[in-house]
Amino acid sequence: MSNKPRVFVTRLIPETGLQQVREHCQAEVWEGELPPPRAILLEKVKGVDGLLCLLTDPIDAQLMEAAGPQLKVISQMAVGFDNVDVEEATRRGIPVGNTPGVLTEATADFAFTLLASAARRVVEAAAYVQAGRWKTWGPMLFLGADLWEATLGIVGFGRIGQAVARRARGFNMRILYHDVTPNEEAAGRLGAQYLPFDDLLRQADFVTLHIPLTPETYHLIGARELRLMKPSAVLVNTSRGPVVDPAALYQALVKGEIAAAALDVTEPEPIPLDSPLLTLPNCLIVPHIASASINSRHKMAEMAAANLLAGLRGERLPNCVNPEVYTR
Ligand code: GLV
Repeated sequence: MSNKPRVFVTRLIPETGLQQVREHCQAEVWEGELPPPRAILLEKVKGVDGLLCLLTDPIDAQLMEAAGPQLKVISQMAVGFDNVDVEEATRRGIPVGNTPGVLTEATADFAFTLLASAARRVVEAAAYVQAGRWKTWGPMLFLGADLWEATLGIVGFGRIGQAVARRARGFNMRILYHDVTPNEEAAGRLGAQYLPFDDLLRQADFVTLHIPLTPETYHLIGARELRLMKPSAVLVNTSRGPVVDPAALYQALVKGEIAAAALDVTEPEPIPLDSPLLTLPNCLIVPHIASASINSRHKMAEMAAANLLAGLRGERLPNCVNPEVYTR
């Protein structure tokens, strides 16, 4: 019997991280394309010292109980951790790790990609060509919104929101932001202006969301907020699906209360095939891939492995979301 710590890894992750985990642990890796079903996950975690999980795995009290009191660390390969009951982990003295920073630029790149694609109707236009409908250059063909000198509204001015602002400067955009606590230093540096939430929604040509999912941000964008936005506005969501009320978004798009939406995340995920949002040409939906650049995913795997191994050694996690666990 190996005396290496036992860990469960809930999916195949990039080799940069997995190799570290395999070298130092007795690792079982779930190799399915889909996440382990709940009953299997509860079974697999029994007796493990560490867990390396993804945002698709609900990590709650029942799961921590099923794992047992020897569980020393929960390492999530993502920056967001709304799937983890962090309070419960803290109560049990378990540090929870995440992977901030290494996906900031990739996510900001992708938010901008979605913004530009929706504004200039790239996906609709490509489908038009593939359907054999391109007959001639047309003076009115696929007119879209301008990015240059547009007003950008950034909701959530943390690492990713600020990285989006840096990109917006290259497009000479007027940059507005809203956050629960204004960040005057970053705003000054990036030429961004703080506005109350409703004012930002009223003024922005593009609204892009960069906030975590919490009870306070659930359905933050609903019917009222969509009505405040310009009829020409584009909504971009690369944060978490439930920040936007999908029924309200459908109504707003159909009624022309806003012009378009581009969603990397949906509620629920994956989006059900019968979701009315899938019928709309002005709603671009992709499968939660904002951090899916090669570099970013490799670094996320490395960081998740580093958190896991530190936790197993009883050391402080390099990136811990519940540092209060160390001062209890
Ligand atoms: C991805 O959505 C992440 O939170 O890292």
